[in-house]
Amino acid sequence: MCGIVGYIGRRDVAPLLLEGLQRLEYRGYDSAGIVITGKAAAGKPGALKMVKAKGRVRELEAKVPKRFAGTTGIAHTRWATHGAPSDENAHPHLDAENKVAVVHNGIIDNASELRARLTADGTVFLSETDTEVLVHLIARAQADTLEEKVREALRHVEGTYGIAVLHADFNDRIVVARNGSPVVLGIGEKEMFVASDVAALVAHTRQVVTLDDGEMATLKADDFRTYTTEGSTTTATPTTVEWEAESYDMGGHDTYMHKEISEQADAVDRVLRGRIDDRFSTVHLGGLNLDAREARGVRRIKILGCGTSYHAGQIGAQLIEELARIPADAEPASEFRYRNPVVDPDTLYIAVSQSGETYDVLAAVQELKRKGARVLGVVNVVGSAIAREADGGTYVHAGPEVCVVSTKCFTNTVVAFALFALHLGRIRDLSVADGKRIIDGLRRLPEQISEILANEDEIKRLAAEYADAKSMMFIGRVRGYPVAREASLKLKEVSYIHAEAYPASELKHGPLALIEPAMPTVAIVPDDDLLEKNRAAMEEIKARSGRILAVAHQVQEKADHTIVVPKNENELDPILMGIPLQLFAYHTALAMGRDIDKPRNLAKSVTVE
Ligand code: F6R
Repeated sequence: MCGIVGYIGRRDVAPLLLEGLQRLEYRGYDSAGIVITGKAAAGKPGALKMVKAKGRVRELEAKVPKRFAGTTGIAHTRWATHGAPSDENAHPHLDAENKVAVVHNGIIDNASELRARLTADGTVFLSETDTEVLVHLIARAQADTLEEKVREALRHVEGTYGIAVLHADFNDRIVVARNGSPVVLGIGEKEMFVASDVAALVAHTRQVVTLDDGEMATLKADDFRTYTTEGSTTTATPTTVEWEAESYDMGGHDTYMHKEISEQADAVDRVLRGRIDDRFSTVHLGGLNLDAREARGVRRIKILGCGTSYHAGQIGAQLIEELARIPADAEPASEFRYRNPVVDPDTLYIAVSQSGETYDVLAAVQELKRKGARVLGVVNVVGSAIAREADGGTYVHAGPEVCVVSTKCFTNTVVAFALFALHLGRIRDLSVADGKRIIDGLRRLPEQISEILANEDEIKRLAAEYADAKSMMFIGRVRGYPVAREASLKLKEVSYIHAEAYPASELKHGPLALIEPAMPTVAIVPDDDLLEKNRAAMEEIKARSGRILAVAHQVQEKADHTIVVPKNENELDPILMGIPLQLFAYHTALAMGRDIDKPRNLAKSVTVE
C-alpha cells in the first residue's frame, strides 16, 4: 500500500524513479510524485524540484518537464488514507522553504494533535495528509545533521512509517527510517537505491538490506550506514533477492492476473520441490522450528489471515483436522486482535500472508507473542515483517505476485498447508498408506492444474454467458465452502459484480429467497461423501428457476453448465476446484472492460489498519 522509491548516484534520476514507480504502482495508484535535488550553483545548495499528479504514474510522467536533471531523488505512488487523491495530497511533501522533502508509507496516529500544535506556531499546511507534519517537524528541528533532524522529528511521532527524506542543505544523502512499513536498501556500484518493495530494485541490483523496525539509514552514492532511531550503529548484512527482474514483468501476458493464474503449475511444483520424504511418507519443512515432541503437544491450531489468505487458512484448517486430527479453525486476523482473545499455551497459532506485511496480521502476531504464544508464519515474501516476527514457519514459494488480487499465492498457500498437515499427521496418527496417498495426490497437482488451464477457452465462453448477472451466489459444503468464498471474493474484486458465498446447507435458512433467473449460482460439487447433498441443493435452486454453473468432477445434470475438473484425493480437491473460477472471474472482468490488475479502491499489501 503506497510505494516509495529513491536513488542516489551518478545516473539521471528521473527516468529511474519513474520506472521504479511503475513497478510499485500495484501498491497504490491514485496519485504520484517525484522530487529531485537540482544541480548546486557556485556556493549555493541545489534547490529541490518537485512534480506531482493525481492519477496513475503515466499522468506524472506526462507532467515531468524535459529539463529535470539531477542524480538524487525520491518518489512515491499513493493509496489515499488521509485526504482524497489530489495533486496537493500526493507525496512528496515540502516545507515552506522548499528545503525538506518527505515521502511516507504508513499512518501517523497523532497527526491531528501535531498539526494543531504546528498550526498554532504559525506553520501553514498545504495538504490534508498526516505526512506533512513530519516535513514541518524535520524543517523545524534544531539539530545540525539531517540524521539528527529526522530523529528529533520522529521522537514526536506515533504510528507507522517507512520514510525517505531529502534536504537541500544535505544534498549528498537520502535519510530513511522504518517503523512498521517496509524499507529496503538496494546496494549498487557507486549508486544506492531505496524502496518499499524489492520489485522496484531488482532491475538494477539484487543485493538488498531490509531495515528492521526502529532502524534508520543514510544512503550516499558510494556507501550506506544503518543505525537505530536512538543513534546506535547496527550491522547490515546484504542478502541476494531470490527472483530475477523478469519475474516481475508481464512475460507476454496482457495482465499480471492472467500471468499469475497461468504460472500455477510451476508455482505448485516449486512449493513441493525438495520437501517430500518418500521413505517415511512425510514431508520436511525446514523452518518450522517445531520438533516432533512439540508437534505432538499441540492441542489446537488457530489460523489468522485476511481476505484471500484467510480463505486459504480455512482450507488449511480443514486439512489439519482431516490429516492430523488436531482441532483447527481460521479467523480473520483483523477481528481476532480486537476481541481480547484467550491465548492458550497449548494452541499453535499460524499467521498467513502473501505479502508478509498486512498490518492486521502483523499486529495479531505481535499481540500473540506478547502473550507468550508460539506463532508460525505461512508467508510468500521472504524476509517480510510477518516472516521475521514469527517463531518459525514456511515460505509458500509462489514467486512475486504483482496483480492486486491474489491467485497463485492462494493456491500455493493451500498446498503449503497440505504439506504442514501431512507433516503433523505423520508425527501423530496418519498411516503410512494415507501419507503415501496424499503425497501421490500432491505430485499429481501440477499436471492437473495444467489440464484445468488448458480449458480456458471454454471457461471464457461461460464467463460471457454469465457476465450479464447483477449478482451471483456461490455455494459449497465443507471442503467446497472456502472455495466458494474465495471464488466469490475474486469475482467481486475484479468484475465489481456483487457476489455472495454460502454453505449450500444454509440456502434454505434464508438466501434461497434471492434465487431467481437473474441471480445465477456457482456450485462447488466435488465427488465426495457430500455429492448427493450438493445435488439436492442444486435441485432446490432449479425448482426456483435459478441458473447454475457447477464446478465438479463429472457433468451435473441439475446444472445448466458444468466445468469439469480432474479428481484428486478428497482432501486435496479444494486446491484444484478454485482455479477455473479464477479464470471465470478474470474473463468476466475482461469482458466488462475492468482494470483487472488494479481494481478500484484496492491496493496490494494493506499495511494500515
Ligand atoms: C484478495 C486479496 C486480499 C489479500 C489480503 C491479505 O485477492 O489479495 O484479500 O489476500 O489483503 O493480504 P496478504 O495475504 O498479503 O496478507
